[in-house]
Amino acid sequence: MARKFFIGGNFKMNPATAAARDAIVDTLNKAQLDGSAEVVIAPPALYLLPLQQTLRKEIALAAQNCHTNDSGAFTGEISPAQLADARIPYVILGHSERRTLFGETSDLVAQKTQAALAKGLKIIFCIGETLEEREANKTLEVCRAQLDAAINLLSPADWANIVIAYEPVWAIGTGKVATPQQAQEVHAALRAYLGEAIDANVASSTRIIYGGSVTGASCGELSSQPDIDGFLVGGASLKPEFVTIANVKGA
Ligand code: PGA
Repeated sequence: MARKFFIGGNFKMNPATAAARDAIVDTLNKAQLDGSAEVVIAPPALYLLPLQQTLRKEIALAAQNCHTNDSGAFTGEISPAQLADARIPYVILGHSERRTLFGETSDLVAQKTQAALAKGLKIIFCIGETLEEREANKTLEVCRAQLDAAINLLSPADWANIVIAYEPVWAIGTGKVATPQQAQEVHAALRAYLGEAIDANVASSTRIIYGGSVTGASCGELSSQPDIDGFLVGGASLKPEFVTIANVKGA
C-alpha cells in the first residue's frame, strides 16, 4: 500500500494572539497546495474550534494532547470523547515536551493512544531519543521501548490510524536537523521493528514521519529518503515556509 506523504504542523503554545493566529490561517488558506501530502495542523486547544470554521477543508486539525478518560474531574484536560464529538480528527500524543516537561511515561502515552483510538481519533505518535541516549548508542533501544508500550496495548489493525513521528529530542527546536542519512537509518530500523513486533503489513503501510528543526531548506533531501513519509514541523509551521514543506513531495 502506498504511503501518502504526511505533513503535520505542531504550533505548540503559539501564537499568543488571535490576530497572529488569523494571519497564519490566512496564509494557509491562500496557499497553493499541490495535494501531494495529507496536511494537518495542531494549534493550541483554544483555537481548534475557531479554526474549524475558518481553515480550508484540505487541511485537517489535530489536538496536541488528550486525557485517557471520557470525562471527569481532571482540571485542565481535554478528553478523546470531547475531541471526537467536536469532530477533531487527529491528536498528537507522546510529544517529547509532554514526556520531559510534563512527566508523561511511555505507558501513559500508550493508554492515551488506546483511549483516543477507541473514540475514532487518529494519532500522531511521537518517539525519539535524547542526545545522551544517541551518544550512548541507545537510539533504537529507546525508540523501541517507547513503541513497545503501545504495541503491547493495541491490535495490529489499530496501526492503520497511527502516524509515527520520529523526533530526536536533540533536533527539536535547536536548529540541529538530523541528516537525511541519520533519519533514514532510524526510520528503516523502526519499520523493520514494526515488522518483527507486529506484522509485515503494519511495517509497510505505517507512515513514519521525521520531526526536529525541519525547514523549507532542509525538507527536500529528507523527503527523498525511502522510509521518510513526511514531517512534523514545529517552528516552521508558524511561517509561510510551511507551504513549501507541505508541497515538497510534489516539487
Ligand atoms: P521544531 O519542532 O520543528 O521546532 O524543531 C518539532 C516538533 O517539536 O514537533
